[in-house]
Amino acid sequence: ESKAEPQLEFPHILSEDCGVFVEFHGILMDKRFTKYWNDVETFLARPDDLVIATYPKSGTTWVSEIVYMIYNEGDVEKCKEDAIFNRVPYLECRNEDLISGVRQLKKMESPRILKTHLPPKLLPASFWEKNCKIIYICRNAKDVVVSYYYFVLMIMSYPNPVSFSEFVDEFMQGQVMYGSWYDHVKSWWKESKNPNVLFIFYEDMMEDIRREVIKLIQFLGKTPSEELLDKIIQHTSFQEMRNNPSTNYTTMPEEMMNQKISPFMRKGIVGDWKNHFTVALRERFDEHYQQQMKECTIKFREEL
Ligand code: A3P
Repeated sequence: ESKAEPQLEFPHILSEDCGVFVEFHGILMDKRFTKYWNDVETFLARPDDLVIATYPKSGTTWVSEIVYMIYNEGDVEKCKEDAIFNRVPYLECRNEDLISGVRQLKKMESPRILKTHLPPKLLPASFWEKNCKIIYICRNAKDVVVSYYYFVLMIMSYPNPVSFSEFVDEFMQGQVMYGSWYDHVKSWWKESKNPNVLFIFYEDMMEDIRREVIKLIQFLGKTPSEELLDKIIQHTSFQEMRNNPSTNYTTMPEEMMNQKISPFMRKGIVGDWKNHFTVALRERFDEHYQQQMKECTIKFREEL
């Protein structure tokens, strides 16, 4: 059976335990991640840990590489020493004894940078108790759903959606991995009043990367130099990251991520949703969006 066939029949299993996902504290989670949840819940943060939090497909890898560059004062060679998923471990990721974000992190020297897709209420308490810095990256919902669609096609453990519009429905209902985008974004937005939390937008980075990198450097308590800024912007451009094996995930086994179906570094643009949404789907999506987000003060650009 080819995973490349988006037409494969998949029943609406996502709301129940289908062997891949499980309903977990109100969100859909990878069953393998939840099996040893105690390791995540009791994770011991260090005060100088930096958390990069996102809803999937919002620019996690991009910001991870930028922050890694900041930590290493623009040392490109250092960044190329290992894959991004080893340099910035994925906290809750677990696959029996093969993969464990927690185990990777325990072995790391300080200061550690880690990524997570958890909503704030599921982030291990220790990060809050130790006042760790957290960067949350937010991307507009319609581009996230497009990016997520291609991602689930190439992630081999994720059941293929029947079609793009079916997947959009599942996204709207929160029946995708990590649950409702709306809840995720709204709950992290509430945390952004905390001075240890920096809330940034993918679209702002696309508009003016220099301005946003300065923001990141300052948030990390450092002073931006022109030289460092130039190096970071050069090294973390979409083109560079797409061609760089330490950031483009090509070192991941094909059985996990099949980049022949869709590359991890796919397009890296704002507004790709316009190439995927029909007028009717857009109307339905936007109406539901207004409902979900009506009390939220996050301001996206008008056209998004
Ligand atoms: P697209 O699928 O829209 O291309 P994450 O790292 O959270 O999984 O997010 C992946 C998305 O970020 C993908 O979006 C990917 O192309 C985009 N991305 C990664 N690096 C980027 C960069 N340097 N500049 C712009 N977009 C980038």
